[in-house]
Amino acid sequence: GTNTAQPKRETNFVKVMEQQGRRVIVFYGSQTGTAEGFAARIAKECSQRFGVSCMTADLELYDLTYLDQVPKDNLVVFVLATYGEGDPTDNAMEFWDLVTEEEPTFSESSEDRPLTNLNYVMFGLGNKTYDQYNEVSRRINKCLLKLGAHLVGEAGEGDDDASMEEDYLAWKEKMWPAFCETLGVDESSARSGPRQPVYMVEELPEYEKNEVYFGELAEKAKNNAKIIYDAKRPYIATMTSRELFHGADRHCMHIDVDISGTNLSYNTGDHLAIWPTNNEIEVNRLASVLGLTDKLDTVVMVKAIDPMAPKKHPFPVPTTYRSIFRYYIEICAPISRQVLNSFVEYAPSEEAKANLTRLATDKDEYRLQVGDACRNLGEVLQLVTGADTRPGLFANVPFDLIVETVARMQPRFYSISSSAKESPKAISATVVTLAYQPLPTPHRTVYGVNTNFLYSIQMQNESTVADGQEHPPYDLAGPRQAYLGSDGYCHKIPVHVRHSQFKLPRNPSVPVIMVGPGTGVAPFRGFVRERVVEKRNGKPVGTTLLFYGSRNQAQDFLYADEWPELFETLGGESRIVTAFSRDQAQKIYVQHRLQEHGAQVWELLQKGGYVYVCGDAKSMARDVNQTFINCAIEYGGMTDDKAHEYVKGLRTTGRYQEDVWS
Ligand code: 2AM
Repeated sequence: GTNTAQPKRETNFVKVMEQQGRRVIVFYGSQTGTAEGFAARIAKECSQRFGVSCMTADLELYDLTYLDQVPKDNLVVFVLATYGEGDPTDNAMEFWDLVTEEEPTFSESSEDRPLTNLNYVMFGLGNKTYDQYNEVSRRINKCLLKLGAHLVGEAGEGDDDASMEEDYLAWKEKMWPAFCETLGVDESSARSGPRQPVYMVEELPEYEKNEVYFGELAEKAKNNAKIIYDAKRPYIATMTSRELFHGADRHCMHIDVDISGTNLSYNTGDHLAIWPTNNEIEVNRLASVLGLTDKLDTVVMVKAIDPMAPKKHPFPVPTTYRSIFRYYIEICAPISRQVLNSFVEYAPSEEAKANLTRLATDKDEYRLQVGDACRNLGEVLQLVTGADTRPGLFANVPFDLIVETVARMQPRFYSISSSAKESPKAISATVVTLAYQPLPTPHRTVYGVNTNFLYSIQMQNESTVADGQEHPPYDLAGPRQAYLGSDGYCHKIPVHVRHSQFKLPRNPSVPVIMVGPGTGVAPFRGFVRERVVEKRNGKPVGTTLLFYGSRNQAQDFLYADEWPELFETLGGESRIVTAFSRDQAQKIYVQHRLQEHGAQVWELLQKGGYVYVCGDAKSMARDVNQTFINCAIEYGGMTDDKAHEYVKGLRTTGRYQEDVWS
């Protein structure tokens, strides 16, 4: 590499803590930023409420074998997300390997209980719709206890599907007293003084225009640095697309992303990460509420002033307010109760103050008006001032509070629907636009951030005629120069590839059974095409069964024109079995078809076949799992218990894989 001049970073966190005078370190294992966000909140409360010096740290950046050297009067907090099927997040992989080993080796001792000096706090993030709820925090907790470490308070668990915020708030109130006792901090002396800003925001009257960031996601590359495209530096890829169908309330697109000429690569079954852009309604709404409408193009510098902040800059700077709203922070996401609380002191009237306070403190009211209604910060600030709709009512809010409390923009992930063997440098994804009317406010439409952004590019590319539906507006001729085509409009999107475990058996002669209704069919388009390539290369390819479901054969049968030739090439017993739920009075779903084909499914399993399920985690994946259990009972003659065990066994041996979302 060309970049060897950089000083070596210290990876011994105990040394770093000592040098910086920290007593507490908050490690996070985060994939999409949620765990990182909770880590930052714990760190902030630790230092601001209890006056204990604290730092947050990415697990990946430190050597955790030094855990045995943490002094007794210090404390380590772990905030660990469980990802997918009970897996650690990428950045926690090494830590996981270290502590789950039979006899872990730490820096000094490898005796039985090397961590007897270690005080730690544990908060896990999981999702109850998945089988292995909070597997990572639970398992690591067990291992740490076995190694002699001392758990402070109770191990907390948050459910991302239902109640993450409430789980966290309830847990932390019980954790802090135990924390204070361990560190000998007087809990009653907790401060509630004025807010201490984490960031400094400075408007720049003068600047070099070519040094300003207009939505780029990584710092501008140094001249001859070799660029590696990954999560930290996405590739700005040309996107082409076509509409697969459009219905009364949704559009489905096939998109292709060109990665030729880059070092990017992917494997069939991986995920494509796409970084979204916020729509103009929300950008303008928040700007208006904060009194920034006339200053959107003002250039600003944003710097961390609290050394506890995980990064020197939260996003590339200098930039503009407009770019921050559009590209760098999640202004469309529902805002948390705790964050609302920090806006109370800036309410422009007694009435607004009372309304905000109620939302921030009353759980039920919060859930109804914000959580279930999916209201973002701008919308909540408008809601609490009621009839008073003048712009700039919250102009007193310091902008650094926005930077501190609104999450940074995160990429969205899509199952790749192409085959790497067939098209190694063109990645495709299958995307359906999301728009729904939340129950508590049925007159409001909430739009999926990224799917509607992609659709606006699709409309631009194809100059699609008006379809009578409303679409949120995006500024596709915005200032992101590198994204614009010769026509002055955006044709590119920032992407990277996330590798997954969702993989075909290495040997193509092994039979596969795939279940993927709706856009859950995406990875199976890739799988089927991959097996067709093998077949054309003269390899023996096992039976390939695809169970696909959608509402109507005539309207939303995805890739209907592609399947006949593909399955004809595969030949033998390979085929697609369809379930169109709304083409008859009674619902027919993929699991019903699976049941009907139970004998053949069982036979393929007996031959060592692999099962793949993709799509909705909550009901579909559950029902499909149950159908396989039924199959083992009916055709394998097993008892209920044995059948459960059998399917579980398929999972542990990698023969039952899921790529599901909720
Ligand atoms: P429905 O909307 O008519 O109920 C893709 O979304 C397809 O999955 C649709 O046909 C949808 O049917 C169907 N679907 C809905 N719930 C399901 C479930 N629990 N299991 C399997 N398919 C389901």
